[in-house]
Amino acid sequence: MAINEEAILKSELRWAWVVSAIVAIILGAILFAALAMHVNPPSNREYVDPNKLHLSAEFTEENLGTRIDPDGRIVARVIATQFEFVPNCIMVPVDRDVTLRFTTPDVIHGILVTGTNVNTMIIPGYVAQVHTRFTKTGTLLMPCHEYCGLGHSQMIATVKVVPADQFRPDAQGRAACGDDR
Ligand code: CUA
Repeated sequence: MAINEEAILKSELRWAWVVSAIVAIILGAILFAALAMHVNPPSNREYVDPNKLHLSAEFTEENLGTRIDPDGRIVARVIATQFEFVPNCIMVPVDRDVTLRFTTPDVIHGILVTGTNVNTMIIPGYVAQVHTRFTKTGTLLMPCHEYCGLGHSQMIATVKVVPADQFRPDAQGRAACGDDR
């Protein structure tokens, strides 16, 4: 059976259209997810001096943990360090928008909160920020998921999600694990 040149060219052109269409659909889906649905990698380009975390500004000891910021946002600030989280438990209210902010003075860590979509790397020199909303009360585990040294497997914190009436920030707007009793 003879296959002539014209038939081959037609077939190639057909496939070129099919492939172009698939690429266009995938590209469109990516752009739609990013622009319309705001599905983006959890990246936040925000710098912080890892040598001075404890000395000034946002990540000093008295600022760590959960706090209602002056603008009304609920923000939990946590430092990841070899091999613990400071603080090692954060309290957040259920069904409220919460911002989690992490940084580290030493090496790359990573966190996830079990059963949620919270998952980010924590890189020295940067602030990792996640906006989320916890929809169930309970105590969730927040392990380090990036190998960061010999104590990596012991590096674990908890997120205590409490009902609104148990989330009672103090006069400074701070709420810590244990305040709900
Ligand atoms: Cu920190 Cu693994």
